Amino acid sequence: MAKRVLVTEPIIPSVIEKLQKHFTVDVGERGKYNTEEQLKENISDYHAILPMLSNPITESVLSEATNLEIVANHAVGYNNIDLDAAQKSNIKVANTPGVLSDSCAEFTLGLMLAVARRFYDAQEYLLEGKFESWEPLGFLGMELQGKTLGIIGMGRIGQAVAKRARAMGMDIIYHNRSRVSDETEQKLNASYYSSHKELAQSTDFLTLHCPLTDETRHLIDAEVLRLMPRHAILINTSRGPVVEEAALAEALHNNTIGGAALDVFENEPEVHPNLQDAPNCLLTPHMASASYKTREDIGMLAANAIIGVLNGKADSEIPNLIQP
Ligand code: GLV
Ligand code: GLV
Repeated sequence: MAKRVLVTEPIIPSVIEKLQKHFTVDVGERGKYNTEEQLKENISDYHAILPMLSNPITESVLSEATNLEIVANHAVGYNNIDLDAAQKSNIKVANTPGVLSDSCAEFTLGLMLAVARRFYDAQEYLLEGKFESWEPLGFLGMELQGKTLGIIGMGRIGQAVAKRARAMGMDIIYHNRSRVSDETEQKLNASYYSSHKELAQSTDFLTLHCPLTDETRHLIDAEVLRLMPRHAILINTSRGPVVEEAALAEALHNNTIGGAALDVFENEPEVHPNLQDAPNCLLTPHMASASYKTREDIGMLAANAIIGVLNGKADSEIPNLIQP
């Protein structure tokens, strides 16, 4: 009998078709598996699950997963999965590194430009009929050229952002758990800061590309926001809880920082009410990886891990398994 795979939501069809060549595949309705209860009810039917980052794959869910061999997350971030619990139950976990670096980096640059040059307020102004004639003092923003970009998290995505920011004429400084190679630092002309607070102090733009862990939760808090220059712009396309939203909203309302763009939120899909009316704050619905190509690549990488594990391939032949 074919093994059974649960894809928790509709994803790019070619990925489902690929899985269907090997297994019996069920695809959940959009959002159906965003609760532990729903996952617990169904997970024992499956040998593999391909969850979204919005699906909580907790210890209590995994305790019901009597047939499960692999969780192949449809994301590079895997803070929605309890790795220790998976390891205890001998369930493998995969993520999707690499394939979303370009789309996420392009989106990040887009957010930087959009906030610095006020695209959204400008459109609102125009559509409200306020554009009467060319204004020499209208919508004065900040150029990227010659500015300093601080990057927290210099993995693949951070590096892809740095490469593009260099092309815009920016200086790159970064903070990371560990320093990147000399070669990478030279290629990106990037200077390492061992303290994220000192980094924040020296930035015109600060962008976050670290995973969410106990160490990075609320890394950007009131203190760090106070250290940022008054004109500086914060960009978050990593995970919402890396930023203390209430403190950010306060900094924006008090004009102690210049602006922010957030693609991720502390309690998705909720957005802190004080952010919704904050000045110079651009909000997008967790979509930095949303190009067709990248979403197909993400799906294929997850599907390949499932095909490898359920067909008994050695772990070493499945490059995107997370080794706890
Ligand atoms: C998206 O947020 C991802 O982690 O892939
Ligand atoms: C992105 O793909 C990363 O692993 O940083």
